[in-house]
Amino acid sequence: MQYSNSISTLSRESLETKFKPLLKFFTDGIKDLYWAEKAIEPVLKKNKSLALTDELADALEDHEIQTQKHVLRLEKIFQKLNIKPETKKCEAAAGIIKEADEIIGATPEKSMTRDAVIIIAMQKMEHYEIASYGGLLQIALTFNMNQVADLLEKTLNEEEDADLHLTDIAESYINLEAAEESNTESTGKDNDEQANADKKLRSEKAQA
Ligand SMILES: [Fe+2]
Ligand SMILES: [Fe+2]
Repeated sequence: MQYSNSISTLSRESLETKFKPLLKFFTDGIKDLYWAEKAIEPVLKKNKSLALTDELADALEDHEIQTQKHVLRLEKIFQKLNIKPETKKCEAAAGIIKEADEIIGATPEKSMTRDAVIIIAMQKMEHYEIASYGGLLQIALTFNMNQVADLLEKTLNEEEDADLHLTDIAESYINLEAAEESNTESTGKDNDEQANADKKLRSEKAQA
């Protein structure tokens, strides 16, 4: 990776004068991610226990282990920035976690639909992390904080891989099987509606 040295020629005094608000934003962003990573770990564990398929449960377990590493990397970053590790509540991540609970809770237990929804809920979180790590990485590079940038980039790559892996799982069979699924937990009226919808889908497929 090419590191920018646009800041290196500036004196320390002018750097502090010109960039202090951005440095403050950067450290707040690290605290924000520190809160988010700590909050995500139990969510991954919980959703792993809710997953029907082994593929999804394994993917969530793998990412839970990675997430523990992400927390440790952020602690290393605090060390390099010479500030004490501190969380700052991330409203965006809190909102994604709350929504995940709601949308997953609205699906039938141990169903393909639930797995499909868990994947989307977790991908929203990955995209939040990708945007945050990606943006902070660019700021670290701008300030020539190369060791901090390396740590951010390692985590960014793992977030991107986790997101792609979830897409692969969804596309391989979970979404297709979820689309065929009937809601066994619904009311009688819902069952009739679902049966009619399933019938319509089957006849459309037969005509295609
Ligand atoms: Fe993470
Ligand atoms: Fe993640």
